[in-house]
Amino acid sequence: MRFFETVTAALFLTGAFAAPFRHPHHLHHKRDAPAVTSQVVAYTTVVVGGSSSGSPISSSSTVTPTSSSAPTGPSSSSSSYASSSSTTSSSAAAPSSTGGTSSFTDGVYDCSSFPSDQEGIVALDYLGLGGYTGIQIGNGAGSSCTEGAYCSYACKPGMMKTQWPSEQPSDGETRGGLVCKNGKLHRTNTDKENLCEQGLGSASVENKLGQGVAICQTDYPGSENMVIPTFVEGGNSSPLTVTDNNSYFHWRGMGTSAQFYVNKAGYSAEKGCQWGTQNDDFGNWAPLVFGAGMTDGITWLSIFQNPLTTQKANYNVKIVGENGSNVSGDCTFENGSFTSGSNGCTVGVTSGSAKFVFY
Ligand SMILES: *[C@@H]1O[C@H](CO)[C@@H](O)[C@H](O)[C@H]1NC(C)=O
Ligand SMILES: *[C@@H]1O[C@H](CO)[C@@H](O)[C@H](O)[C@H]1NC(C)=O
Ligand SMILES: *[C@@H]1O[C@H](CO)[C@@H](O)[C@H](O)[C@H]1NC(C)=O
Ligand SMILES: *[C@@H]1O[C@H](CO)[C@@H](O)[C@H](O)[C@H]1NC(C)=O
Repeated sequence: MRFFETVTAALFLTGAFAAPFRHPHHLHHKRDAPAVTSQVVAYTTVVVGGSSSGSPISSSSTVTPTSSSAPTGPSSSSSSYASSSSTTSSSAAAPSSTGGTSSFTDGVYDCSSFPSDQEGIVALDYLGLGGYTGIQIGNGAGSSCTEGAYCSYACKPGMMKTQWPSEQPSDGETRGGLVCKNGKLHRTNTDKENLCEQGLGSASVENKLGQGVAICQTDYPGSENMVIPTFVEGGNSSPLTVTDNNSYFHWRGMGTSAQFYVNKAGYSAEKGCQWGTQNDDFGNWAPLVFGAGMTDGITWLSIFQNPLTTQKANYNVKIVGENGSNVSGDCTFENGSFTSGSNGCTVGVTSGSAKFVFY
């Protein structure tokens, strides 16, 4: 049995700064088994609103089911993106001597061979998708990178993928990654030579716990599988990807930010950064969600309770400015609740950088 679930999480965070900040819309496809087709079972819109005077901390939350439909047959939707995979000529070129690692050459890699020599890219073999984070074929999910599929990938912590088609389906779902054409991998965004690029560098994670924490970024735009790992061992630190609202993926014209599911301490990336079910406490059912995005020079960092679950994180976590940085607001989850009194909080980093500290 499999079922699909779609969650649109739109976090509207309003603060002391003039412009409202918008977190990404995510359509979360839940699948229990490799899927051939993907259907939406339920839409849930999560609106975290807050117009607090003098503080960028959002304070209220509502969870509103907005629509649901449960198609059982194969989807027949014709998607606009599909045509983009069947256009243009193929180079069918023989593999070049060496593509180098920092610049991707279209039409060289077989679709089934994950381009693991590319700078910053991370093969997630344990997902069973040939190293990819997600395979999108038509309106469904695939298990290998085959003709016409979008084959997406993870980048190292702090980095982000550069590849998604500029033309996106009108239904609000997104496509991302490389595209498989004539048996070879091609970029979907030829403006970028590298498959991964550095994020803004204005956030990191410090883990003062005795156990590791698996932080799982949603692959967006794309499958929205929350499988891109930032695993931080106890006692260690790591960069955390921050995207720029102005230049990263725009959903229906609106800027988006990076979103992460944050597991209880003790879960590995292999276990924690995968789809869970309602009975689990990991992956999309992990207790906390982090957001990280910059708008007009201000990095907004947030911690929220995952609206899907009432399970609590088994640690404390707070956002702390780095030396010499300027952070507006306080965001602390301690002893099972947010000191803001609500189910989440946000800070604005106006200069420098800040870290999420697990303690
Ligand atoms: C984020 O980017 C979008 C698209 O450019 C823009 O409309 C929006 O105003 C930006 N958000 C803020 C808070 O500036
Ligand atoms: C922050 O700055 C203070 C004073 O300059 C210094 O003593 C301290 O070690 C710094 N902390 C870190 C983490 O760099
Ligand atoms: C920090 O921000 C405050 C208010 O936003 C501002 O007055 C102050 O000059 C800033 N400090 C630095 C070091 O940027
Ligand atoms: C959390 O618990 C510790 C230990 O009991 C206590 O020192 C601390 O003040 C508590 N924090 C909050 C925000 O209540």
